[in-house]
Formats: sequence, structure tokens, C-alpha cells
Amino acid sequence: MISKVQQQALQLLKNRYSHRNFIQKPIEEEVLNHILEVGLNAASGGNLQPVSVIMIRDSASKSYLAKLCKQGFIEKADTLLLYLVDYYRLQRWAEVQNAPFGREHALRDYIISIEDVMCMAQSMECAANILGVGSVYIGTVNAYYQELKEHFDLPKLTVPILMTCLGYSDDKGLGRKKLAQDVVVHQESYKMLSDDEIVEKIVNDKYDNWIQNLSGDVLDKYLAHFQEVATEVSGPEWSKEVIERIKQQQGINRAQYRFGWHYNPLRLRSYNKQIIDFLKDQGFKFLGEDK
Ligand SMILES: Cc1cc2nc3c(=O)[nH]c(=O)nc-3n(C[C@H](O)[C@H](O)[C@H](O)COP(=O)(O)O)c2cc1C
Repeated sequence: MISKVQQQALQLLKNRYSHRNFIQKPIEEEVLNHILEVGLNAASGGNLQPVSVIMIRDSASKSYLAKLCKQGFIEKADTLLLYLVDYYRLQRWAEVQNAPFGREHALRDYIISIEDVMCMAQSMECAANILGVGSVYIGTVNAYYQELKEHFDLPKLTVPILMTCLGYSDDKGLGRKKLAQDVVVHQESYKMLSDDEIVEKIVNDKYDNWIQNLSGDVLDKYLAHFQEVATEVSGPEWSKEVIERIKQQQGINRAQYRFGWHYNPLRLRSYNKQIIDFLKDQGFKFLGEDK
């Protein structure tokens, strides 16, 4: 039997949403402290806690980050939490205790550390939600490693992973829908969806058959964009299908918007070198040439 308190907690967690309309009401120290304490108690691979959090409340730093990430609401948040994978502290600990370290050579450990960051960040999101504090993740920080390193004096063997904005807000949510349980949760083994199931459960149920209608010059601009992107990432045959579909719809559908426009794969892949170079520069050695 689920108790009343449990039901309330479940409702809070199920009704969570990202907040971006922050109001000018400071988060009380006690409330912030509870959120941080919950984060510190999150699960961690081997309980090594290879994570650091830079807490940012200074308005100049907040404006800097809002401009850097091109997301104005960031500066209105009361507190920003920038999560780092932090091998610097682990290595220092190993040094002090005369232990061999070598974790910077192991991609598997790096992946576990990112998982650690997410466990901590999401625990804090839950705590914030329970305490009535709004939050939103900012993933864009991974496009600005070098800038963040300089601004926050990040040592070698640290990497910014993502940021959370925290603050009271008057956001009512965007009424976004999520996938149904049977799409995401597979019973015992992986079950592939048929085309019809994808249309029913993703295109219709989640996205209400969303189409951004386009015409005239704007449509032409999108057609040229999709022609270039689709040819480059999927070849000329698929590009033809993409263009035909856009013409037939007189607009772009949700998958086209997300995968071809908003998260333009050409732009996304243009960050590869920057990310790899930064990781190497920070002392990580699992990227190829090094053992
Ligand atoms: C890893 C990650 C990165 C995100 N980055 C951003 C971001 O840079 N800006 C933003 O406004 N929202 C960001 N979000 C929030 C998502 O847009 C949001 O979770 C999604 O639209 C679903 O809405 P909901 O959180 O209200 O369920 C991010 C979320 C995650 C998990």
C-alpha cells in the first residue's frame, strides 16, 4: 500500500519539468544545502566520487555563462551548478597515498565518471523539485570547454560535463509529452518497433503529428538546408526522399526538425576535434595514440 507521503513524492517526481522562467527570489541557504547534501549522497562507481561542482552565484559569472551558452534565462537563475568530471582530485589523493593512478588512460573509467555526474545531478534535480525549487540542465557547456577552463580556473584532468540552473520560478511547464512506458521499457529482451508502431507511438502519441508549415522563400531556404545536410550525412538517395517528404508536407516534421535542423548533425560533428583536443590537453590518454 502506497502511503500518502509516498504518493505526494511520486506526484512531484512524475510532474517534474524544466524551469526557465526564474523569478527574483533567492534560494534559502538551508534549502540549497539540502539539495547539495542529497547530491553528495548519490550513488557513485566504487564510491570514488570523481565529480566536482562549481557553485556559481556571482551575477557577473551568471551573465557570462548566459552569453556564452546563448541562453538568456541562465543569468536569472539564483544558482548555477557546473558539474565536472574531476580526476585531478583523485590523482592528488593517489599521490598523497603513494598509489599508482592511471585512471586517465581508461575510457571505461571516464564513462563511469560521466555516469557518476548524472547520478549526482539528477539526485539534486529531484531534491530541488521536492523543495519547490525549479531547475533546468544546460548541456551547451560542452561546446565551450576552453572558455570554462579559463573562467573557472579548472585544473588538468577535469572536464565540464553539464550545468544546472536552480531557482524559484513561475514556470508552468511546456506541457511536453513523454514516450509511453511500453516504448521505452522492453520486457526481458529488446523489441523493435514496426513502422506503424513508430507512427502511432512516437509521431502521433508523443508529438501529435507535429509539422512546422513552411511556404515560399522560407520553404526554399529549408529545402536547400536539408538537401545539403541529408546528402552529406545520408547520401543522395536518402536526400531525395527527405526533400520529397518536405515538399509533400509543405513543411518539416518533428524528426526532420530535431535531427536535421535544431541538432544539425554537421554543426554537432564540427565539435568533435575541439572536444578530443580538449580532453588530450587536459591529460586524458584514452583517445588513440596513447596506451
Ligand atoms: C543533458 C541535458 C542537456 C540539456 N540542455 C539544455 C539546454 O542547454 N538548454 C535548455 O533550455 N534545456 C536543456 N535541457 C532540458 C531539456 O530541454 C528538457 O529536459 C526537455 O525538453 C524535456 O522537457 P522537461 O525537462 O520539461 O521534461 C537539457 C536536458 C538534458 C537532460
